[in-house]
Amino acid sequence: MHIAFAASECVPFSKTGGLADVVGALPRALAALGHQVSVYIPRYRQTKLNDPQTVVRSITIPFDDKYRFCSVVAAGATAGVRFYFVEYPQYFDREALYGSPAGDYPDNAERFAMFSRAVLEASKILGVPHVFHCHDWQSALVPVMLRTLYAEDPAFRDVATVFTIHNMGYQGLFPPDTLPLLMLPWDLLTISKMEFFGQVNFLKGALVLSDYVTTVSKKYSQEIQTTEYGFGLEGVLRQRAATVTGILNGVDYDEWSPQTDKFAAAKYSPQDLSGKLKCKHDLLHAFGVTNADSKVPVIGIVSRFAAQKGFDLIAQIMDRLAREEMIVVALGAGDKPYEEMFLRLNKQFPNKIAVKVAYDNAIAHKIEAGADMFLIPSRYEPCGLNQIYSLKYGTVPIVRATGGLDDTIEPWDARTGKGTGFKFTDYTGEALLATIKQALLAYQDPSSWQTLMRNGMSRDFSWGASAREYGKIYERARQARASADAAPVTTDLKKEPVLG
Ligand code: ADP
Ligand code: GLC
Repeated sequence: MHIAFAASECVPFSKTGGLADVVGALPRALAALGHQVSVYIPRYRQTKLNDPQTVVRSITIPFDDKYRFCSVVAAGATAGVRFYFVEYPQYFDREALYGSPAGDYPDNAERFAMFSRAVLEASKILGVPHVFHCHDWQSALVPVMLRTLYAEDPAFRDVATVFTIHNMGYQGLFPPDTLPLLMLPWDLLTISKMEFFGQVNFLKGALVLSDYVTTVSKKYSQEIQTTEYGFGLEGVLRQRAATVTGILNGVDYDEWSPQTDKFAAAKYSPQDLSGKLKCKHDLLHAFGVTNADSKVPVIGIVSRFAAQKGFDLIAQIMDRLAREEMIVVALGAGDKPYEEMFLRLNKQFPNKIAVKVAYDNAIAHKIEAGADMFLIPSRYEPCGLNQIYSLKYGTVPIVRATGGLDDTIEPWDARTGKGTGFKFTDYTGEALLATIKQALLAYQDPSSWQTLMRNGMSRDFSWGASAREYGKIYERARQARASADAAPVTTDLKKEPVLG
């Protein structure tokens, strides 16, 4: 089967979070199963390409105010996957992917609408896939355009769409007149399509118009159908429940393994854990901590700083946590209030929490390798990758039992010697503190701690099984499309009342 990915991030070309890891790794796992895979992403300033070749010189993208012309560049094929980059420097040659410290770029609707339309147009030249697999709001207009602007286009008659939600917290909300600007029909502005409290909601469009919807863990696929986690779209998801599936993200162990990690100070394995101590010294050194006893447990954090990640709980308990034998090392960047909060905590408790406000892949690896525990107290977490990386590094996860964190971490039981980490459920500082204390206590017994480390290191979250699940979803999406073709969505669209 030919599958075309459309996404806004992909390792090693561009990254702000886990989406990039997934789009970098899943296509290779699909190719290994025999599928033909193309990946479309924007060409940003941070995108480094070896030997780029222009493969589509000019695509005309009509907007209400004027035409714009973009091109598509190919940069070879890696492990059977072809990568295509939509090039339009006015939109993508910028400091960051989505916005500046002042907020989102004001033309994000146009930027990602152009990207989505360019993917469709380019595929007509480079090869129309059997399935478009789109990710998050930035490529949500691919299914929307396919079922509206391109509904009568014979090139796309049998093409199915699968849409993966990586995060319900980001939906792509824009004012109503975005629709005519992007040449999309007004009849999308109805409650049953893209309208959301008077605005146009890109994510909602994809949830309604894709053939199949997936999200990145089983638990999150259920959570998002509730008011607490649905961000206002729980009703839409409940309506589509029969076509919503949770498929857990895998991990690229070529990138994330203590046996091969090129950023770690020493290699280690379940059979020989001795290298981890060297990694711990190296990590403390990287954070400028020179006076710590190596017996003191190190709790690592690597994160986007955003409300989702639950770090307000750390601030609530830091004074009490500081009385414990431990040190926190935190790497993160993102929302200003959280950056400032961590810097403040570092000032207040300089011997207990070391902080780097930065995006730094090498340090992220050093934390995975050198820390004893890894903390993810998220409010919600669609999948979460760092706790899965941590397992492989014998860096014991302490997580809140939500979404993929709950699906991937098994609670440690010292009596049976089973389990891989520590979990708490209530979103409170008390629950977090009690769980960290439980972990610190367990750390006092080196032999059972090593059992706990090895339990985690033995778990296998490689992509193979999840890629096969996606294969089944692609098949189902194609069947759904084949039956939908008998009763096209467009007829339905034309019957909707026209607003505006
Ligand atoms: P999310 O996508 O919500 O940010 P994930 O756990 O799925 O969370 O993925 C985060 C990815 O981004 C991981 O690969 C993690 O190592 C990386 N990452 C997050 N913050 C940083 C940072 N400050 N520096 C380097 N890597 C980071
Ligand atoms: C999102 C989620 C994260 C998930 C990642 C990749 O950014 O916040 O939980 O692991 O996407 O699917």
